[in-house]
Amino acid sequence: MKTINKIGVLTSGGDSPGMNAAIRAVTRSAIYRGLEVTGIRYGYQGAIEADFVEMHKLSVSNTIQKGGTILKSARSKDFMTKEGRAKAAKNLKANKIDALVVIGGDGTFQGATILHQEHGIPVVGIPGTIDNDLSGTDETIGYDTALNTALEAIDKIRDTADAHERMFLVEVMGRDAGFIALETGIACGAELTLLPETLVHLNEIKSSLNEILANKKRSTLVIVAEGDESGGAIQLQQSIKDDFKDIDMRVCVLGHIQRGGNPTARDRVLASRIGVAAVNALLDGHVSVMVGIVNNNIKLTPLKSGWSKKKSIQMEMLDLVKILK
Ligand code: F6P
Repeated sequence: MKTINKIGVLTSGGDSPGMNAAIRAVTRSAIYRGLEVTGIRYGYQGAIEADFVEMHKLSVSNTIQKGGTILKSARSKDFMTKEGRAKAAKNLKANKIDALVVIGGDGTFQGATILHQEHGIPVVGIPGTIDNDLSGTDETIGYDTALNTALEAIDKIRDTADAHERMFLVEVMGRDAGFIALETGIACGAELTLLPETLVHLNEIKSSLNEILANKKRSTLVIVAEGDESGGAIQLQQSIKDDFKDIDMRVCVLGHIQRGGNPTARDRVLASRIGVAAVNALLDGHVSVMVGIVNNNIKLTPLKSGWSKKKSIQMEMLDLVKILK
């Protein structure tokens, strides 16, 4: 087993609330265990450019409650090349970084898996994405905050929808995954929820809306995931507007507000538990795993299955929207 004296930590891909809490947990638990810690700025790009910063206990003071990431994030095109990864590995080795903790989503884990395969650097993944689409953990860091941010906004939209008796098509994030749409849909009492995981024909959407309108509800909320096959809320409005000429229909795209803001208590605790477990995993000799929490217990999963096996939504949750509308 390779001796680990110094670890590197980075955040990569789309930021998510709670990433700072995870960096803090990794940094402080590594120091607690007698290790040195190097922060790598701008994700993998920082490894390629040797953008390193030594981390101390106080480097992460006053960060647990903050959104974004103090180490910055990026989606590095250079790291997708063999040459880029070789340069990153060379810099890590030159700076005596023995192992890496990477915080991010599927793209981040894909990069870490290949880096380990090509250069033998031990890597541990921490699931940080608002999309909640990684298998091997019940929830990803940032998901709970994003849900609550979206919900707060949607509740406000419901007020105005009700006051004007309007229909709102609200788009939430999720290019490939509908977890945010599904759970905000249930929590806001949406009349219809559209996800990338389910194929709903335009005619079905129209007849569902006609059925809802026939019930004379005073307001209608349709939650549309960004990656739904309808093309998202703006596109959906274009596709159906001629059939609903008499309806006062508005669109609201929530966008990146879902990625920012102070993490919820739940995300801070999740990030703290997983961060500490990630350092333990490296010291226990794991070389390519993701740390998650399943049924309230820490669980290690081969890093590859975190991103290659798509986490599926529970269809009975979607039924709730239909039953309760
Ligand atoms: O993966 C997180 C996420 O917010 C997705 O929900 C969304 O599709 C994507 O990132 C947006 O990425 P960007 O900020 O690069 O536009």
